[in-house]
Amino acid sequence: MILYFSGTGNSLAIARQLAERLNEPLLPLIEAVGQDLTNEKRIGLVFPTYDFNLPPAMPEMLSRLNISPRSYVFTVITCGSMAGNCVWVLRRILREKGIELAYSHKVSVPDNSALAFGRNPNKQLGKFEHVPARMEQIISELQAESHTLHYSWFSLLSWLLGRPAVERGMIHYLGPKVNPDKCIGCNTCVRVCPMNNIRLIEREEPMANSQKPTALIADRCTVCLACVHVCPQQAISTNGREALKERQYRHPQIKLKDLLKR
Ligand SMILES: Cc1cc2nc3c(=O)[nH]c(=O)nc-3n(C[C@H](O)[C@H](O)[C@H](O)COP(=O)(O)O)c2cc1C
Ligand code: SF4
Ligand code: SF4
Repeated sequence: MILYFSGTGNSLAIARQLAERLNEPLLPLIEAVGQDLTNEKRIGLVFPTYDFNLPPAMPEMLSRLNISPRSYVFTVITCGSMAGNCVWVLRRILREKGIELAYSHKVSVPDNSALAFGRNPNKQLGKFEHVPARMEQIISELQAESHTLHYSWFSLLSWLLGRPAVERGMIHYLGPKVNPDKCIGCNTCVRVCPMNNIRLIEREEPMANSQKPTALIADRCTVCLACVHVCPQQAISTNGREALKERQYRHPQIKLKDLLKR
């Protein structure tokens, strides 16, 4: 079984390819939490890197995952270029559950945060060029049930960035903000948020341009930036930067409906 967490589709596209080629079912990680997966022979975990670390919401989800130490557990991490301490942290969390991570690798893909900030889109999109070769390597190693942890090193800088206080700072710094003047209450961000962290509320004072409700982001944000990238009105900003249509990103093989509430 392939379990994935994804904001803008990079990890979903990789997870989907792994599921097809390894003939495994595909499930969002959040839906797998609480299910009995102890009979699965193979468990793959596919997710993005945030600040050289796991997405802030993942450790809790992983701690509630019901998988067996007899399973072949592997991970494929997506990142802009540096997965930092992801493998090291994941291995530690799994070990606390008595599970040994057998295999890890990373795939460099467009950085959805760099794209949101408007940094060199051509350079980001050019990263797709190297994906097929890396995926072939990963798939053949997984078919052989290889026991290899690629990039499992420990970095003090990544460890410091993963401290809860720094993580909270990152969420505050990058955390999405809704501009109610632009929001038309279409509900897309509500349906895409993997953390169920957005809801629509009635406006206290109806705006001249809209009587519709407006989106409100609560405090369980894991900074996946999905809402920033999908809003059809570009009403959600990150890092204080105005959202622009040309900065919005979704993996080219992933449709909006694939990201909607799962
Ligand atoms: C908050 C945030 C922090 C990120 N930090 C890193 C990082 O430390 N290193 C890196 O290589 N990419 C980083 N990225 C880029 C993502 O890991 C990358 O774009 C990933 O493939 C997104 O996956 P998704 O489309 O499945 O959500 C970051 C992205 C976000 C949103
Ligand atoms: S996607 Fe944009 S316009 Fe639609 S409800 Fe969310 S913030 Fe408002
Ligand atoms: S509020 Fe936006 S950035 Fe935060 S978890 Fe939800 S979709 Fe991701």
